[in-house]
Amino acid sequence: MAEVTPKIIAENVCKVYNEGKKTAFKAIDNVNIEVDLNEFVCLVGPSGCGKSTLLRMLAGLDFPTSGNITIDGEKIIGPGADRGMVFQTYTLFPWMTVEENIKFGPKLKKMSKTEQQEIADKYLETIGLTKFRKCLPKELSGGMKQRVAIARALANNPEVLLMDEPFGALDLFTKSQMQLMMREIWQRERTTIVFITHDIEEAVFLGTKVYVMTASPGRIREKVDIELPYNRELDLKDTPEFIKIRRSIHAMLH
Ligand SMILES: Nc1ncnc2c1ncn2[C@@H]1O[C@H](COP(=O)(O)OP(=O)(O)OP(=O)(O)O)[C@@H](O)[C@H]1O
Ligand SMILES: [Mg+2]
Repeated sequence: MAEVTPKIIAENVCKVYNEGKKTAFKAIDNVNIEVDLNEFVCLVGPSGCGKSTLLRMLAGLDFPTSGNITIDGEKIIGPGADRGMVFQTYTLFPWMTVEENIKFGPKLKKMSKTEQQEIADKYLETIGLTKFRKCLPKELSGGMKQRVAIARALANNPEVLLMDEPFGALDLFTKSQMQLMMREIWQRERTTIVFITHDIEEAVFLGTKVYVMTASPGRIREKVDIELPYNRELDLKDTPEFIKIRRSIHAMLH
């Protein structure tokens, strides 16, 4: 079989905050990860293990103290339209309607009005908020806002979607619904996704591969290939195969 070069490679990545000062702090130590094209990679680990730090470096919002991160073989030197981001807290433009928020990227790219509308319609339907297109973010629930944030990121057609605990602030029921939606989106679009969470169940349900991180300093403890069915429904979480993987990751973390 031909070797396929991973889409993203992080090699021996270390991140020291406040380097050279008394307050110097090693947040990430010698991290190696590989993200293949079309993969749904989850990074799971306890609070403070450096998940956001790593994701920010993938986004080009921060840089390693040592080591290398490449995307398609090129060193990451800053943010780019090839990478979309979704954060835990809602980052919608409060003065724009749902639809305008989704059209923001396509409009920046100077796409025609018709194209902008097609993209907005497609993703409004994907997230099930067609009826709410004219609403302002303040009129939406947390889960709905987060759906719009995902649609807005997808509307830019990013090669890689970087997600930092996007469902962390949601109640359990909404969270499950969002997980199902996210898995369906991925199965349809096959966008390469790097998804951060501290929720083991969420990581196993969504991922094709899970990196398990431990803290102080942040390191990759293990890489787990998730060999579960491609089509996933929420009841998968109750199956012995799922529970077995969830427990083994739990054991790695404790
Ligand atoms: N700008 C910064 N300056 C100094 N230290 C920082 C900075 N950002 C993060 N840290 C420290 O680096 C460590 C990792 O932080 P990070 O936010 O990456 O963790 P995390 O895994 O995302 O945690 P959480 O699950 O709580 O979001 C923490 O100990 C944090 O205090
Ligand atoms: Mg974080």
